[in-house]
Parts: sequence; structure tokens; C-alpha cells
Amino acid sequence: MKLAVLKEQADGERRVAATPETVKKYIALGASVAVEAGAGLSASIADADYEAAGATVAPREAVVQGADALLCVQGPEPAGLGGANGGALVVAALDPFRQRARVDAYAAAGLEALAMEFMPRITRAQSMDILSSQSNLSGYKAVLDAAAEYGRAFPMMMTAAGTIAAARVFVMGVGVAGLQAIATARRLGAIVSATDVRAATREQIESLGAKAIFVENVAGIEGEGAGGYATEMSDEYKAAQAELVSAHIAKQDIVITTALIPGRPAPRLISDAQVASMRSGSVIVDLAVEQGGNVEGAVLGEVALRHGVKIVGHRNVPSRLAADASALYARNLYNFLSAFWDKEAGRVVLPDEDEIVKGVRLTRGGAVVSERLKG
Ligand code: NAI
Repeated sequence: MKLAVLKEQADGERRVAATPETVKKYIALGASVAVEAGAGLSASIADADYEAAGATVAPREAVVQGADALLCVQGPEPAGLGGANGGALVVAALDPFRQRARVDAYAAAGLEALAMEFMPRITRAQSMDILSSQSNLSGYKAVLDAAAEYGRAFPMMMTAAGTIAAARVFVMGVGVAGLQAIATARRLGAIVSATDVRAATREQIESLGAKAIFVENVAGIEGEGAGGYATEMSDEYKAAQAELVSAHIAKQDIVITTALIPGRPAPRLISDAQVASMRSGSVIVDLAVEQGGNVEGAVLGEVALRHGVKIVGHRNVPSRLAADASALYARNLYNFLSAFWDKEAGRVVLPDEDEIVKGVRLTRGGAVVSERLKG
């Protein structure tokens, strides 16, 4: 089975879908690996490192030619994949809802597209979950980005010249990214509080030493929510949340928002008036900016200034930590493909009835087969 590791073509994408470590492991399974020249450079991996791990390095066309699987971070342009074998796997974060035309093109080309972000949230698939591995790094980086934009220090400091107060950090949305943001802000010495709509997060917030800020009078989501995810909240909940947040946010120096609802635009959590209530020099990092944003006034790819408050809207935050993000992403892909490696056949075999396969498979045999895309 020939695996092709492609150089990412999307603007600003610095990650790569395989590392020398995973190349070695694929080869140990019995696969051959071809890496597009320069694929790892922006993640600090030289072509020679891939070669030393046993891969061949070649231009894109040669790498794609005869490939049985194409490993990518973002979905590759379907044009240019013509040389791959019939039924070749396209393994990537395919952004299926927004890139629907591309998914249809994979189907038309007879490719089997596997969307890694549709990995079901079950114990068996935890090590294959790219959303978790990448969100964790985003949560960490969001706090560092906030610290870099903030004209003050995070920890309380008692100096001969007087005392500096600790920064107050509020994390909205306590999934994987939010939990890491809380932990990182705490490590930097901030006073941290956090909120979510899922009741199960209260204990997690408190166990990290942060204060839980919750809507008390209207029902949120009891427990984890379906598949661990949130859903759209009622208007009553939204109004109660806005009131609670208004009072709290005016006293914060840093706000990190991470709230997402799968397949829907991100919920609006902070209004322009709430931004205006913060003191000048405060910083908001909107990690949901690519999904429409949690914060009014956030601009994709920019640090916007509103009422003296910086609103950070970086694109593709995991790519800002390209080396670690690639290492974890590459392991996610390896853990997935190796779990379905058929020794006798010497290739990956994906059983139709497997829960993981049903979750990630978008196209097969020329058609779109994903229930989530059909529905
Ligand atoms: P996510 O990225 O979809 O959303 C981020 C957070 O925003 C979530 O905690 C969500 O509840 C929250 N949120 C949504 N709407 C909100 C609103 N209006 N106000 C405030 N917060 C709002 O979530 P993520 O990080 O992907 O994971 C959510 C949970 O899934 C995890 O905490 C974990 O329990 C579970 N999980 C399970 C895995 C497994 O078993 N394999 C792997 C990863 C996560």
C-alpha cells in the first residue's frame, strides 16, 4: 500500500500530516511512504529527515501517482489527484459542511474521502481524535497570544516599586481548548474563571483551580451533551447567560472564547456593548472566529481594536504551533490507519459496519455516503 504525504497548499497552513516517527511506523506495518518535497519544512522537518525514516521524497505528481492513500492536514484540491489509484483514501480534516463541493468532487473522482474531524467521540477513537489534539494546542496558544497582546503582566508581582495585580482571565466554552486555556492561564499566575452550557464542566473548571460562572436559573445541558457536544440553547438561556456575562466581563482583563456547536455557526457570546464595558487594554481571543466568531467585532485573521480592547482573531491557531500540532495530528492519523491495517492483505481495510468508519467515511464508490452530509 502506497501512502502519499502531500505538502499543504492552503494559505498559512504550516502543518504536515506525517512525521519521520509515523513514517517509520507505517513502513514497519508494511506500507511504502512517499512524501512531497518540502512538505515538512514549515513544521521544522527536512526532506532528509523523511528519507532517513525510510520515505521517498519526490515532486507532487510522482508522490500522487499510484497512491492508495493521500495523507493531508486540509482537504487537497481534487484537481491534481488524478494519478492516484481508484478508490484511494483521502485522509484529512475535510471541513465537509463548508467544503461540500470538494467532497462531491472526491466522490466523482472515485476517491474515498475520510473526514478526520467526524471521528466519533468514543473511548476507542480517543487517540485518533484530531479535534482534541489540535484544540488542546489552540487553548494553550490562545493564552500566550493574549499575553503577548496584553500590555500588563499575568501574575501578581510584589516589587520594591510596588505591587502589580494579577490578570483576571475568563474562559468561555470549556471543551478541550477551554480546559487547556484555563490550565495555561493558571500556570501564568492569572485569576481564572470559566463558563460553559454543559453542566459536566463545572467540576472540571473547579478541579483546575478556576471559578465556575454558571447560569443558575435556566436549565443548561445536563451531563456531557450528545457525543460530548453542545447544542443551540433556548432564547431564555441566552438572555440569562448574556446578563450573567455582562456583569462578569466588565471586571476581566482577558477573555478567551472557544464555544462551538458542531455543524452550526459559533454562538455569539459577547456583544459590542460588552466589549465596551471592559477596561482599555483588555484582550479578547476569539478561537471560534473561523466558525463565525463568538465575539462581535472579531475579524478573521486580524487583531481588531474596539473601544480600546484588542480582539484577536487569528486563523488556524494550531498551525501557529506547527511542529507539535503536526506531531500529534500525524499520530492521530497513524493510530486510525494502523487500527484498520489488515496484515494478510497488507493494506488498510475499512469495514462498513465499524462505528469509526461510519463516522469518518464521506464518499465511496463514486457517491456521498455520510449520513451527516445526507441529512
Ligand atoms: P467544542 O469545540 O465543540 O466546543 C467547545 C465548548 O464550547 C464545549 O465545551 C461546548 O459545550 C461549549 N459551548 C457551546 N455553546 C456554548 C455557549 N453558548 N456558551 C458557553 N459554552 C458553549 O467542544 P470540544 O472541545 O470538542 O469537546 C467537548 C467535550 O467532548 C469535551 O469536554 C469532552 O467531554 C468530550 N470529548 C470526548 C472525546 C472522546 O471521548 N473521544 C474526545 C474529545 C472530547
